[in-house]
Amino acid sequence: MFPHTALTKLAGIEVPIIQAPMAGGAATPELIAAVCNAGGLGSFGAAYSSPQAIHDGIADIKSRTDKPFNVNLFVFDPPKPDSQQIARALELLQPIRDALNVPRGDLPHKLAEDFAAQLDAVIAAKPRVASFTFGILSREQVDGLKAAGTLVIGTATSVAEARAWEAVGADMICAQGSEAGAHRGTFLGSFEASMVGTMALVPQVVDAVRVPVIAAGGIMDGRGIAAALVLGAAGVQLGTAFLTSPEAGTHPAWKAALRNARDDQTLITRAFSGRHARGLVNEFMRTLNPQQHEIPAFPIQNALTGPLRQAAAKANRPEYLALWAGQAASMSRSLPAAQLVSRLAEETVTALQSSCR
Ligand SMILES: Cc1cc2nc3c(=O)[nH]c(=O)nc-3n(C[C@H](O)[C@H](O)[C@H](O)COP(=O)(O)O)c2cc1C
Repeated sequence: MFPHTALTKLAGIEVPIIQAPMAGGAATPELIAAVCNAGGLGSFGAAYSSPQAIHDGIADIKSRTDKPFNVNLFVFDPPKPDSQQIARALELLQPIRDALNVPRGDLPHKLAEDFAAQLDAVIAAKPRVASFTFGILSREQVDGLKAAGTLVIGTATSVAEARAWEAVGADMICAQGSEAGAHRGTFLGSFEASMVGTMALVPQVVDAVRVPVIAAGGIMDGRGIAAALVLGAAGVQLGTAFLTSPEAGTHPAWKAALRNARDDQTLITRAFSGRHARGLVNEFMRTLNPQQHEIPAFPIQNALTGPLRQAAAKANRPEYLALWAGQAASMSRSLPAAQLVSRLAEETVTALQSSCR
């Protein structure tokens, strides 16, 4: 039996392990439900989903589990497209378009879903937990979620961001260290200054706020979970560790790349989406990284590269896929999600008992 923490008590779960929300297809309803049924907290990454798709996705999860789960959205103001910058971005992508035989397209009319409508769909569905990244909610928005009985988790990459989330009433803070796979949640200050490692970030955030803190970034086994708990975290959020589960929607070539990854093979890039994110270095990154300053902001670049990433997936060309991965990807296992959750829990208990060597 795993000792309860503030996260397990608040969320009504058995083990303080959150399967990270992973918008874009990796976190399938099968994966989410398997984690929930194993006693963890599965997360629906709904950032790219329409309000109707959020409604349908939540119904799908509810048909597979009666346990609590989390729904996650991105909070950001869409930038105004600049036609000159877009023309240059399309030019920079031309070598990749040539390699994949993809014709040059225009920027799609709709760049992102309407956030207010997405939030309304989440509030209407009353999930036990909702989490947010890339920005911060207003106090009114947090109160709206709480009135629906939903706990609010805000992502922070610095102490200042954690304090800002606590000030608007968040129930918990997810402290995202710089080891983390995929997008940085930074919304205050510069991206570079907020590249604080999990080991340094978690205790500083724990000391700065009164609400429970969840550690994220580079955690792949019970040793990492035990370390996070010792640093004062009430739970952990793991993304990369779940990408190689059979239930995950990860492309097979991406799964293979994760299994073969080394510690020094990830980098932070804006090449795929226009927002800083960590992934395994590949040809796509090598082509675009030298011109990162010319890449338009999220979600414009994300929209421009979407057809290329889809073509790469179809053609099984991992060198042009976004191979999101945390710095500890080499520790990936291919266990079914339920087995992974129970293995992680067992390892944590063992690590906590034998931590002084
Ligand atoms: C493929 C992938 C997609 C992700 N998508 C989201 C997302 O939609 N929303 C979010 O809050 N975090 C997202 N994250 C970040 C995770 O919440 C978390 O910070 C990260 O996975 C922790 O580091 P780790 O990958 O080393 O476990 C994603 C991570 C990965 C690997």
